[in-house]
Amino acid sequence: MSLYPPSDDFASNAHIDAATYDEMYRASVENPEAFWGEQAHRLDWITAPTKIKNTTFEYPDVSIKWFEDGELNVSANCIDRHLAERGTQTAIIWEPDSPDDEAQHITYQQLHAHVCKMANVLKDMGVSKGDRVVLYMPMIPQAAYAMLACARIGAIHSIVFAGFSPDALSDRIQGSQAKVVITADEAPRGGRNTPLKTNVDTALNKAGTDTKVLMVKRTGGDVPFQAGRDVWLHEAEDGVANSCEPEVMNAEDPLFILYTSGSTGMPKGVVHTTGGYLLYASMTHKFTFDYKDGEVFWCTADVGWVTGHSYIVYGPLANGATTVMFEGVPTYPDAGRFWAVCEKHKVAQFYTAPTAIRALMGKGDDFVKPYDLSSLRILGTVGEPINPEAWNWYNDVVGKGRCPIVDTWWQTETGGHLITPLPGAIPTKPGSATKPFFGVQPLVLDPQSAEVQTEMAAEGVLVMADSWPAQMRTVWGDHERFVKTYFSDYKGYYFTGDGCRRDEDGYYWITGRVDDVINVSGHRMGTAEVESALVAHPAVSESAVVGFPHEIKGQGIYCYVTLMEGQEATEELRTELSNHVRKEIGPIAKPDVIQWAPGLPKTRSGKIMRRILRKIAEDDYGSLGDTSTLADPSVVDDLIANRGG
Ligand code: WT7
Repeated sequence: MSLYPPSDDFASNAHIDAATYDEMYRASVENPEAFWGEQAHRLDWITAPTKIKNTTFEYPDVSIKWFEDGELNVSANCIDRHLAERGTQTAIIWEPDSPDDEAQHITYQQLHAHVCKMANVLKDMGVSKGDRVVLYMPMIPQAAYAMLACARIGAIHSIVFAGFSPDALSDRIQGSQAKVVITADEAPRGGRNTPLKTNVDTALNKAGTDTKVLMVKRTGGDVPFQAGRDVWLHEAEDGVANSCEPEVMNAEDPLFILYTSGSTGMPKGVVHTTGGYLLYASMTHKFTFDYKDGEVFWCTADVGWVTGHSYIVYGPLANGATTVMFEGVPTYPDAGRFWAVCEKHKVAQFYTAPTAIRALMGKGDDFVKPYDLSSLRILGTVGEPINPEAWNWYNDVVGKGRCPIVDTWWQTETGGHLITPLPGAIPTKPGSATKPFFGVQPLVLDPQSAEVQTEMAAEGVLVMADSWPAQMRTVWGDHERFVKTYFSDYKGYYFTGDGCRRDEDGYYWITGRVDDVINVSGHRMGTAEVESALVAHPAVSESAVVGFPHEIKGQGIYCYVTLMEGQEATEELRTELSNHVRKEIGPIAKPDVIQWAPGLPKTRSGKIMRRILRKIAEDDYGSLGDTSTLADPSVVDDLIANRGG
């Protein structure tokens, strides 16, 4: 296996070299209190914390508190404290969907004014500390303003990815009892407009809450307006003060809720708090990407995902960085767009997902070649394991062999990178997320016996032995679910849901989810969610959903569907079901395969044997394993015979 060390020049100029990593890592796990107490000085506190770490993973009394007597404000840390030194520096570069439209450069001073105004508008709409605000927005600067405006007044934001359906939006509005939804008229992406405001109306009709709507004019398209409930931002901002005193927040006050899919039931609201999250987001941004003052950082994610929260908005802005916000897609107007934007804005750190790399690799090198990519220093990936072929293409064709690749493993729940190379310190291996960040203590357990694997080379499930500051604190409104999901299978540890291998050098290789969660284009989808959407259709009696290998998406969605008695299995129905799932959840949940299943393989006690369904979907039925416990083994033969159809 080839090893890619940073060049001597790179390592000697990096924030963290190999010796510093070893020293800091040791300090961080030997004495977390001292280490994090020291690191906390990176933030501006209104009241400095004296209690640093108060955490226990003991089932069922799990409790996680960091810096619990500290007070601060996230928006003041991301904006106000930079004003004296870098008020005229660009905070956000906004690159619109169409390359024919002009990019915007928003300075820290301008950011301050925009955020304060929006904060004042939210106050005027009745939002106060602790209230929830849902964001359903395009990738426009106002999305960042809205996040920071909430943080400024102590409101808790909950962003719903603009690709989610009105039904999914409605559930999340109800789940958080939001006072206000912030949206835009329409969201342009890849040359097409999504009717966000119309979707919000549909969602609110269904939710039956008395939520108000704050609307940003993006396209100027004709959209419905309900007087008394809806407010245009540009009208509301007129005459509003451009300053707003930041609210004093406790370090453990919630900053945001972000819904994510799990292995059972409906998505859960992951809760992140103020002090620990911000410190960890800013530190990982600085060290994983070796970010230096004045550089332009670009994370291509959407703010609807945690990656956008931590590495478009909070981490970079806490560090006084210049962060790029891109409204469009990698392939519009053509597959050279990412590289055109890197050249145009002289991007130094570029952070994207393996699925995007694979898709662009498939379009050929000619889309990369015309662009001057000499500004790039670091390339990052996130979301799923990266296959060596895509890694090599990224390294050779995009990075010209000069740019360390940081393969960052983390989760919505972890708030920031947990396993990742620090580029000046840790030689990389294609496909490995390498080593833990400061304070992170991964362990590999035997999945059955839960025994800690003490040999260096080991394989099993990945757990964390201790807390880190950006760990999620609870599931919104359901602490029991939090404890059960993450701390009950392997007592005393945080269970990640991932399987992994550790090699003889102590490098971690994530092998993928070990639960009923599938990873579609780096986005998490619960099989239970797709199943419940399918059975909500009147023609469907039962369904089982599994993941299968997909060339571009990493994993695709494979659905086995049993129809109601007398229901005919037609191509029209197949299309209808596919559209139905898309409508219920959103385009990312659209099934790749729907196979009619007259019966599903079940144990005698009625439990669906997903292991078998996964094997059939993977086209790997030589190794079906033990089928003797099936109530009716013949259903398996039928499924194999009709695979894919
Ligand atoms: C799951 C978390 C937080 C970033 C975006 C996804 C998988 C994430 C990697 C990586 C291998 C990865 C894991 C994890 N994953 N990054 N670098 N290598 N797998 O966030 O939706 O919360 O999903 O994504 O399976 O558990 P998410």
